[in-house]
Amino acid sequence: MKKPVGIALIGTGYIGQKTHLPAYLKMQEEGLVEIIAICDIDEAALSAASAKFGVTRTFTDYTQMLELDEIDAVDVCTPNYRHHQPVIDSFAAGKHVICEKPLAINAVEGAAMVAAGHAAGKKFQVALNTRFGSGPQAVKRFVEDGKLGEIYYARAHALRRRGIPGWGTFTQKDKQGGGPLIDIGVHILDLTLWLMGYPEPVSVTGQTYVKFGTREGVLGLAGQWDPKTYTVEDFAAGFIRFADGATLSLESSFAANLAENQFHTSLFGTEGGAYLEPANEEATRVFREESGTLTDTALAFLPKIMTHDAELREFVQAVINDTPVPVPGEEGLMVTRILDALYLSAETGREVRMTRE
Ligand SMILES: NC(=O)c1ccc[n+]([C@@H]2O[C@H](COP(=O)([O-])OP(=O)(O)OC[C@H]3O[C@@H](n4cnc5c(N)ncnc54)[C@H](O)[C@@H]3O)[C@@H](O)[C@H]2O)c1
Repeated sequence: MKKPVGIALIGTGYIGQKTHLPAYLKMQEEGLVEIIAICDIDEAALSAASAKFGVTRTFTDYTQMLELDEIDAVDVCTPNYRHHQPVIDSFAAGKHVICEKPLAINAVEGAAMVAAGHAAGKKFQVALNTRFGSGPQAVKRFVEDGKLGEIYYARAHALRRRGIPGWGTFTQKDKQGGGPLIDIGVHILDLTLWLMGYPEPVSVTGQTYVKFGTREGVLGLAGQWDPKTYTVEDFAAGFIRFADGATLSLESSFAANLAENQFHTSLFGTEGGAYLEPANEEATRVFREESGTLTDTALAFLPKIMTHDAELREFVQAVINDTPVPVPGEEGLMVTRILDALYLSAETGREVRMTRE
């Protein structure tokens, strides 16, 4: 049996404790990993995680932690504006890296991170976990089997009615890079691009609005934020053109007057279409014309998959077997480049052309 992968985690906040450390604990019981150390600048978060997950080696300075030879791979779960430096430093220390989404607050930082991974010759995965659900995996198999034909249009929505986060750095542009577009839009955009085969974007048009976040007295169903420090959009819409002629429309909100929260994507193909709600396998449908009639296919018996568990397990397997990671840094960077272009288009009021890097 191969040696367990030595894991270190930076940022023992919400996502670190809720999904990543529990997943590693399970893999540790199976002998796949050993959790070597954890780090957080917040001592309360660090000691809570240490007690909960039985990790005794704790650090408040990740650069000291990276000196440990037993660490093979680093998991970066810090806020968006603190993805860049820990990732660069982890590669410099010769470690493999998985980094929470979005890759970075902009494509300049993201490109440097991807380049550092290449220079170090190490694996680099972005934690875009939505694709790992059983609905997305099943629809991907339909696409790969040619059942949808050529996908020429997609419609991706990540919309909340009243979901402005009342905690963390989600409402601060300098720390997040943006609002709902970069926080939840990133998931539905990656999912849709992945199902479309990651076509090459050539231009984007975007618009953003701040209609709720800076107002006093707006209902806070996800906690209460401070309108005085709110600097991100609360609604964004975009339209992306690809080199192969396909197009994608995208909408994302933290707050909007609409009937219900929406987190889904629709694919329009020449041989079939698909409607996919990643968090609701039962709602997924594939639409085709078969034997002279229109058919709607429901996907029965899809297993429940813990998407964070699945992504981390595949990352660990890629390190153990020296195989490609399922969500490479390059795909995270493509998403970040599109987001940058959408924000630029919104700022300038023009279409933004995207050139190949
Ligand atoms: N994939 C998903 O579904 C999902 C869900 C939630 C959050 N996230 C992502 O995870 C990241 C963290 O989000 P969160 O909600 O856990 O935030 P959080 O604020 O709860 O946790 C972040 C932690 O990082 C720590 N930290 C900050 N700078 C540090 C540094 N230099 N060294 C060590 N620790 C440091 C903070 O003290 C905090 O404890 C974000 O990028 C977010 O987008 C992903």
